[in-house]
Amino acid sequence: MATAGKVIKCKAAVAWEPNKPVVIEEIEVAPPQANEVRIKIVATSVCHSDLYHLLESMHKDGFPTVLGHEAAGIVESVGPGVTEFQPGDKVIPLFLSQCKECHLCKNPKTNQCATAWTRIRQEIMAAVESRFTCKGKRILQFMGTSTFSEYTVIHQMAVTKIDPEAPLDKVCLLGCGICTGYGAAVNTAKVQPDSTCAVFGLGAVGLAAVMGCKTAGAKRIIAVDINPDKFEKAKVFGATDFVNPKDHSKPINEVLFEMTNGGVDFSLECVGKVDIMCSALKSSAPGWGVSVIVGWTDMYDVAVRPVELISGRTWKGSLFGGFKSKDGVPEMVKAYMDKKVKLDEFITHNMTLDQINDAIELMKQSKCIRAVMSVSPQ
Ligand SMILES: NC(=O)c1ccc[n+]([C@@H]2O[C@H](COP(=O)([O-])OP(=O)(O)OC[C@H]3O[C@@H](n4cnc5c(N)ncnc54)[C@H](O)[C@@H]3O)[C@@H](O)[C@H]2O)c1
Ligand SMILES: [Zn+2]
Ligand SMILES: [Zn+2]
Repeated sequence: MATAGKVIKCKAAVAWEPNKPVVIEEIEVAPPQANEVRIKIVATSVCHSDLYHLLESMHKDGFPTVLGHEAAGIVESVGPGVTEFQPGDKVIPLFLSQCKECHLCKNPKTNQCATAWTRIRQEIMAAVESRFTCKGKRILQFMGTSTFSEYTVIHQMAVTKIDPEAPLDKVCLLGCGICTGYGAAVNTAKVQPDSTCAVFGLGAVGLAAVMGCKTAGAKRIIAVDINPDKFEKAKVFGATDFVNPKDHSKPINEVLFEMTNGGVDFSLECVGKVDIMCSALKSSAPGWGVSVIVGWTDMYDVAVRPVELISGRTWKGSLFGGFKSKDGVPEMVKAYMDKKVKLDEFITHNMTLDQINDAIELMKQSKCIRAVMSVSPQ
């Protein structure tokens, strides 16, 4: 590649400060250093976690940054020591790395990677280092990926190679939301055949959780959202019952408890609000109910009375659907190619990177499931 070893000047959406529109700027992307890969981003989509950083947590130290962590692209060049990737490989960036060497990566019980938390400072959701500058300023790398950019540089432990035939404008969704929801049901909750499930929040993450419950053989899947426009899509993914908390005067867990005669077997919170996490737990059956926290927040504590758990429920959390990322994402790409998981149905808008603020606004107003933006031509 003519660009290998050189600084690339390209377009990126820079979030200069919290709660402000992002700005399309020309940035400089330095060449990859040891064990790093420079990637041309072809397609990327907006996930609620981007909005969380920009509009909800608004951690000042986390700016300026380039948001974006759900994407697919093509390797442009590699740094010294990289043998796993070559220019031209189709890849998906991973916000959760899999170094394959740490004690967590070596343990089949978890998808956590100790290195992930040394690379990314959790409170500011950004990597300690970045290869980006703009107008003479260092730009932070959001979630170690920063995909709202024509080019980005990522450590090889946080990149995975995928089937070269895979359509990047579809499989980009596997970089976060769909693996997260689907895996939360299948890997973390371990939903069982003939069970009853409830999914709170029907964004891409929640809808993917519905899809996971259906794949696992659940016989009843109750879809809960305050936006009834989401119910039609939930049906496509396998939901059987639909509940809008706004239609009820009593707490939603009581509504579900009555509907199911004693609580659901599995509940999944896919909103990111602590009161809903508690409702999801209380909706699950005392004795054996399993409730999984998938929605993201770092701002508040969750609190329930101990008896809610003493009665025999299990409360779990799930990051990236429990998938070991480098291994799991290519498998999910294959599952899509084999028509075993849906992706196209999540895409409600196709846009370009220039329209990023419109995409953020659609997401904020809960008017889209996933808006996929084309970034660079293939
Ligand atoms: N754990 C992880 O690894 C991980 C990964 C990706 C995303 N997330 C988190 O998952 C959550 C969902 O992400 P998304 O991209 O699907 O978001 P989204 O904004 O598209 O979807 C959220 C849905 O929740 C609904 N909602 C809001 N308030 C509600 C309420 N009181 N009751 C029921 N439904 C309600 C909204 O109408 C919307 O449909 C976010 O918190 C995101 O940060 C977690
Ligand atoms: Zn590791
Ligand atoms: Zn995400």
